[in-house]
Amino acid sequence: MSDSNFQCWVQEAHQFIAQRWDQRPRFGIILGTGSGEIADHIVAQEKIPYPEVPHLPASTAIGHKGQFVCGTLADQPIIAMQGRFHLYEGYSVDQSTLPVHMMAAMGVTDLFISNAAGGCQPHWDVGDVMMIQSHVDFMYRSTPNMNSKTVHDRPLRRSDFYDRPRIEQAMAHARRQGFQLYVGNYASMLGPNYETRAEYRFLRKIGADAVGMSTVPEVAVAAKHEMRIMAMSIITNVANPDDLGETSGHGVVDAGVVAAPKLRSLVENAIKNDA
Ligand code: HPA
Repeated sequence: MSDSNFQCWVQEAHQFIAQRWDQRPRFGIILGTGSGEIADHIVAQEKIPYPEVPHLPASTAIGHKGQFVCGTLADQPIIAMQGRFHLYEGYSVDQSTLPVHMMAAMGVTDLFISNAAGGCQPHWDVGDVMMIQSHVDFMYRSTPNMNSKTVHDRPLRRSDFYDRPRIEQAMAHARRQGFQLYVGNYASMLGPNYETRAEYRFLRKIGADAVGMSTVPEVAVAAKHEMRIMAMSIITNVANPDDLGETSGHGVVDAGVVAAPKLRSLVENAIKNDA
């Protein structure tokens, strides 16, 4: 698709949302699997299912609601994506990240991202949360639409993707609140399958702490728009390739139930500290 066509799509999606909700939010959030509790705490003024928005695909991934929740969190205007578009669903990078471009057009400067991920550290547990400090991109197709006039042309300093002060702030908050919070590197895979034992072992060796199938395309686009990014992984299974027994942690524990309150606390703390 040409760049100008894509920009029209972004504009039309933006105009559609603006007609339903006239705020200019500074904060945006992409809610992955298991982070539903945050959506419940947003004081919603408008909920807009993705299929109603021009040019957005209908999300098909299991467990994803597929709607924008527009309202306030910690008394600040926020637009939330409840459910996201994955590359494994067959969408291009442009299609799957159109909402991030749209958020930038709405005025969002601070993006929170959550995802479900496999833990590559055998001592981690289901329901643990990891702040992403860096990533390894194994999708090999995360280059977003680069030519837009709204997006800066200079090469990105990739070390800047994940906002360091936000990570420090989150670690301090977790210490004060008394919950475990890890910092680590996220490996993005195309999916939709989980990894083989050999792949988990490989990922751990190259320095990945968590592995999932999302986030990196969104981060690439958000960084192009110079957003401040805070991204968190909820560990939903723990890979221990050296142990011939179970490859996952407590199968019965719903990671979201354990992780969601921590996630909400971290996001609300970040918003309050900035407001
Ligand atoms: N691998 C990839 N994606 C995932 C995993 C995993 O182990 N767990 C949750 N999402």
